[in-house]
Amino acid sequence: MVSGFPPVRLLILLIFLSIIFVTASLQAYKRHREARQYYKLFGCRQPPLENAYDPLGISKIIRSTKIFLKKQSLLTAIKLFSEYGNTYTSRVFTSRVVFTCDPRNIRQILVTGFADWESSPLRGHLFKPLLAHSIFQLDGPRWKATRDTYRHQARFSNLRSIIDVSRQEKSVQNLLNCIPDSKPFDLSVLFRHLMMDLTTGFCLGDSANSLTTYQTEEKKVFAEAITDIQHRIATGGFVGPLSRFMSKKQMRIDTEIIHRFVGKYIDATLARLIPYDRVDQKSYEPEGYNMLDALAEFSRDKIELRDYVTTILIAGTESTSSLMSSVLYLLARNEHVFLKLRQSILEIIGREPPTLAQIKGLAYLRCVLNEALRFYPPVPINARIANTSTTLPVGGGSDGNSPVYIHKGQKIVFSSFAIHRSEEVYGSDALVFKPERWENVEALKERGGSFFPFLLGPRACPGQQYALQETSYVIIRLLQTFKEIKPRDSRPWKEHMGLNLRNDNGCWLEVVRDEEAIA
Ligand code: HEM
Repeated sequence: MVSGFPPVRLLILLIFLSIIFVTASLQAYKRHREARQYYKLFGCRQPPLENAYDPLGISKIIRSTKIFLKKQSLLTAIKLFSEYGNTYTSRVFTSRVVFTCDPRNIRQILVTGFADWESSPLRGHLFKPLLAHSIFQLDGPRWKATRDTYRHQARFSNLRSIIDVSRQEKSVQNLLNCIPDSKPFDLSVLFRHLMMDLTTGFCLGDSANSLTTYQTEEKKVFAEAITDIQHRIATGGFVGPLSRFMSKKQMRIDTEIIHRFVGKYIDATLARLIPYDRVDQKSYEPEGYNMLDALAEFSRDKIELRDYVTTILIAGTESTSSLMSSVLYLLARNEHVFLKLRQSILEIIGREPPTLAQIKGLAYLRCVLNEALRFYPPVPINARIANTSTTLPVGGGSDGNSPVYIHKGQKIVFSSFAIHRSEEVYGSDALVFKPERWENVEALKERGGSFFPFLLGPRACPGQQYALQETSYVIIRLLQTFKEIKPRDSRPWKEHMGLNLRNDNGCWLEVVRDEEAIA
């Protein structure tokens, strides 16, 4: 080092920081100019700013982390909406994130202005290395192509063709065998095992046997890896940019276990297949449905098949078991709803396993499911990022009625949990569990942007009908079997945010079997 000159490293750092500063200033200036145009052209106004005296959003990040660790994020979000309005912004590092629970904005993001928004930049990296090019990691034409594959080749658009009632019945019988008589037990744990069994059956044609005494060590390790990796993906999502500094060791171990396990089924399926040139599509009809068989008729790319199948193992398991647990949690605490639902099941179906048509005819069950999804949506918050400069219809200005300018790259967070509990939308009894509010079909239609447990628009959950059918089947069989369900936990419901929302305290119940059902 020559005395009198700054050290080379310091000089490089200064140049680097100056470049960042100049780039950020130029970008801010460009945005400012664009914002002024939008204010002029569309009458846009700024929404309220939550943390005006927190220039880098650091205290917001610290506060949010503390609230998350205390498991109070969702209720705190509702408080913030009531304080700042249904749409507000918050500084997080150098960007301004928009938070909204206004149904008009939700419709704009998910339906009307769908093309202006993306999700893969926010979460694509979280799924690596488990998934390479899954639907969660794509937007635009490649997302559309993947979505079409689920719809047509995996046959999601034809519910009847993907339901396997004998598989469902077998798993439900395994579940019933695990439920003790007149003794408290945590049903949420059993539902997670049930869904693991049903989803592995659905995806691979072979149950993980989590509800049986004969589960192999290999299947047990696989099921644990799927559960663990979901927790790691979710944690990565919550810590945001800091996820890049998290250790990936366990994620790699889980990934290896899952890839090896799913890979075996893919190899076996491909080995069974007849070469393309000799396939007689009409005569090839595998026994029962499984997604791997359905997809292997169209693709023999092992990584592609693995991505399709593993995605559903992640998307379909915890979400559906979370819904099942919420339904039972709420039924146990609302005896009149339990009795009314049970009576309608016994009247319309009796004690036999239900058919698809009977399930569709059970209007009150659908009301109960909607109300449970309203109360505890398994996906309670969601986010998108703008791929172009655009607007939201409302939320700007002091009265919140002006459009809001959104710059390219701006992030927006929206909460079904908050809208589903809004008194503005659901009335003064919004916090009462009342399935009857769904009896009026018109009300459901009117609630367009206010009820979206499966999201809305082109990216709404493709497994919605399947999840509802499966949940209905399980609830019906349980209510046919038990004449009483009592809560056995006086602690309040407490949020647990993984990839899906669930009660951190589980679902502790005690049940009384109906002697007639046993006979
Ligand atoms: C009660 C159960 C379920 C709920 C509440 C639920 C909810 C959702 C939601 C809110 C999304 C949108 C996420 C986003 O784009 O940010 C989604 C996406 C998805 N879900 Fe579900 N889901 C459930 C069950 C299922 C099942 C059983 C399957 C498969 C059989 C499934 C497959 C998918 C897939 C593949 C996507 C990605 C769609 C896309 O990006 O285009 N889900 N789900």
